[in-house]
Amino acid sequence: MTASHHHHHHVPVITIDGPTASGKGTVAHKAALRLGFHYLDSGSLYRLTALTALRKGMDLRDEHALAKAAESLHCSFSGDAIFLAHENVTAAIRAEEVGNTASKIAALPAVRQALYGLQLGFRKAPGLVADGRDMGTVIFPHAQLKVFLTASVEARADRRYKQLIEKGFSASMEDLLKDLRERDERDANRKIAPLKPAEGAHVLDTSSMTADEAVEQVLKWYADLKKHHAI
Ligand code: DC
Repeated sequence: MTASHHHHHHVPVITIDGPTASGKGTVAHKAALRLGFHYLDSGSLYRLTALTALRKGMDLRDEHALAKAAESLHCSFSGDAIFLAHENVTAAIRAEEVGNTASKIAALPAVRQALYGLQLGFRKAPGLVADGRDMGTVIFPHAQLKVFLTASVEARADRRYKQLIEKGFSASMEDLLKDLRERDERDANRKIAPLKPAEGAHVLDTSSMTADEAVEQVLKWYADLKKHHAI
């Protein structure tokens, strides 16, 4: 292990994993702002790779080519905006088609491997809040605090519906429920880095919670940890 690797282990990380539309993005982002920590939306990296693949008309079974695309992503993050090369793709990567494609290519080991180092690089002082599916299980297994957010599929479909309408997309509740179920199934049952709570993760069901209530809970767990373990 290199010195810099070792050093990075002292930078606190809070991982927030969970199924699609569980609210983890909002909760992780807000928690990061409250703590003054960096924020990693790891799903956006899979979405950026998916957008690239869709635009280039790539074969979604061509693992090698997709891993190459993931490895050479020219992405940057500025506040809430996400850029691919110089194009603002913040809205484009949220399209359902991009999410579904992201879920498919995320099952390919070479794609996950290609995005591994990029994700570790987000661990910088004073700390990081990282959200995704495998933040606590694979990418940051030694995170100081691990949270697994869940919510019923109906509550998640309802949230996703409101989000899409708000952003001016059209949406059908029936299609959303079907998509969510399919995506859950794929994310939870894939061989590599399946969606599941990490060992030691706090599980939080947000079906009947607001995002702010969930943020308060996460911050409370973190404060308790600091008090007892002096991290
Ligand atoms: O969180 P999201 O909906 O933006 O993620 C899009 C897809 O990317 C999701 O269906 C599964 C995949 N993903 C993953 O496999 N691992 C992560 N850490 C984050 C996302």
